[in-house]
Order: sequence, then C-alpha cells, then structure tokens
Amino acid sequence: MTGVKAAAAGFGNNPPSLLRTKAAMTSITEPLREQHKHCDDLFAAAEEAAQSAHWVECKAQFAEFRSELEAHFSGEETVLFPAFEQASGMSGGPTQVMRMEHTQMRGLVEQMAGAVDTHDAAEFCGAGETLLMLMQQHNMKEENILYPMCDQTLAVASGDVEERLKAVIEKK
Ligand SMILES: [Fe+2]
Repeated sequence: MTGVKAAAAGFGNNPPSLLRTKAAMTSITEPLREQHKHCDDLFAAAEEAAQSAHWVECKAQFAEFRSELEAHFSGEETVLFPAFEQASGMSGGPTQVMRMEHTQMRGLVEQMAGAVDTHDAAEFCGAGETLLMLMQQHNMKEENILYPMCDQTLAVASGDVEERLKAVIEKK
C-alpha cells in the first residue's frame, strides 16, 4: 500500500465529509467574502439609479451600500486585523496596507455622498469609477492573499474571533 492510500484508509468510513467539515469550520473569513459580493450589488444599484437620475432611490441605495461597507471595514479593522496581527506578529504588513486603502475608499464614498445631495451624476459616477477600481483590487488582495493567511493563522487559536467578527459586520 502506498503512503497516500494508507493515509486515506486511516480516515475510516467517511473521509471526504470529515475533511469538508474541518475546512468549513476554519474559514473565519467566509462571511467577509459574501459581504464583498453584497456590497458590489448595492454599489451597482446606486450607480444605476444615479445614471437614470432617480435620486431618491439612489440616496437610499447608496446609504445602504455605505452602511454595509462601513460595517465590513469595521469588522476587519476592529476584529479580524488585530486578531491576525496578534497571532502572526505581523502588524506593519498587509493589514496596514488594507487600512490605508480603507481610508482612501472612505474619502471617495464621502465625495459620492456629496454628489448624491447635489444630484451631480457626473461627480457621482466619476468618483464611483475610481472607487469601483480600488474596491475590486482591494477585495482581490484580501480574498486571494490576506483572508487565506488569516484563516490559516487563526484556525488553531481563533477564540471568539468568528463570533465577534459576525456581530460587527452584521451590525448587531
Ligand atoms: Fe478590506
């Protein structure tokens, strides 16, 4: 018997489900990935409303987007990043870059909120284009690099990180 077969046999009757369960349990960042998609949808709806000059709808959609994005940033800044920094000893690296990008994105969101109030579609869409580009790059870096690092680092001793993170991002 080869080493791999011997290892597989050692799992007993139902190895795949055991492995899946373990993977699911250790993905602390899964709700953040889901929230990225949700924010993208809310952003697209606000942008579409601005392009059609439906300002009442745009204001409502944009407020929802902003609240969801802020909850997302807060979850990362107050729970996930500090937990990762403490567990990994890396405080000046990727999390610092992500915090700086959050600041940049908050500035653009502020600019867009002003454009909603003055019904300025050109300003709204101009800042929106920059924000969308930043968001896409930022989310890709998180999903492909930082979140896997967090999942791996926090898998062993995550404590109550998962619960605290969910409470912040779900605005509870
Ligand atoms: Fe982020």
